[in-house]
Amino acid sequence: MGKKLKRIGLLTSGGDAPGMNAAIRAVVRTCTHYNVECVGIYRGYQGLIEGDFMLMNARSVNNIINKGGTILKSARSDEFRTKAGRKKAYESLKEGNIDALILIGGDGTFTGGIIFNKEFDFPVIGIPGTIDNDICGTNFTIGYDTALNTVVEAIDKIRDTASSHNRLFFVEVMGRDAGFIALNAGVGAGAEEILIPEENLGLERLLESLKKSKRSGKSSSIVVVAEGDKTGKNVFELADYVTANLPEYEARVSVLGHMQRGGSPSCFDRVLASRLGVKAVELILDGKTNLMVGIINNEIVTTELEKAIKGQHTIDQELLRVSDIMST
Ligand code: F6P
Repeated sequence: MGKKLKRIGLLTSGGDAPGMNAAIRAVVRTCTHYNVECVGIYRGYQGLIEGDFMLMNARSVNNIINKGGTILKSARSDEFRTKAGRKKAYESLKEGNIDALILIGGDGTFTGGIIFNKEFDFPVIGIPGTIDNDICGTNFTIGYDTALNTVVEAIDKIRDTASSHNRLFFVEVMGRDAGFIALNAGVGAGAEEILIPEENLGLERLLESLKKSKRSGKSSSIVVVAEGDKTGKNVFELADYVTANLPEYEARVSVLGHMQRGGSPSCFDRVLASRLGVKAVELILDGKTNLMVGIINNEIVTTELEKAIKGQHTIDQELLRVSDIMST
């Protein structure tokens, strides 16, 4: 019989995402449910190295399910990229009598966890928390649904002024090197064109499509551009290029930026975070490690962390087809 696990450490790392607090709440309350202590680790791996810990209980997570961001803060840690830094982190865990780690974050977070587990044989379980939705092994990452709704709301507002002035708007959205936010929010907001890294159709096609929109009587248009788009032009250069080639358009640019990372999490993200948080603790208590919890076809599933970070995320071809037809 292995040593009874008594204390689980919990951290958030990488870009924050709405719903991370709901996941923190679920982990803490599930630990309480199973009579296991939960130690909150501030500022991700950097706080782990520094031993920036706080013992948490069911009351520590009151009134946070509806709050964006993460009460445990997040930070990038160059020190954790070094073996010496990871050694310090291991010593902090031993000093804090912490037996396992739950990591809420994206692929960078999980990569650190895999290396740490290999070097110190320390149990780690991942919960996918990023607005990018670019993690394999789950249909949705925590924060993605909220970010989609934030982007759709922002584009709806932009559309008001675009149509008032008969303007063409280029709206840049986050997603790092994935086009999930751009494609889904673009369809949801009725964008005329959506540029994503997974499908670079070239600038000529963009010009053709905008000419067609004009011919079909559209007086204003929205082009959603994923920040990782591969046209070779940034969103400002794209606007200049189009107005240089299509003088009939007056273009403006709106970069949504970090507002996509904030806001009160949607119900979907709160429920997802709660389900994943419970499962993560139960995996640890079952003696499991190097797994990520996820949701596929509404079932809570597990995926090896190595696969979660290495798999290729594929864009939904059917949705691409819908977006083409909708821009008629
Ligand atoms: O990974 C989440 C994300 O918001 C990406 O969409 C974006 O490219 C990146 O983080 C921005 O990172 P930072 O907050 O460090 O500027």
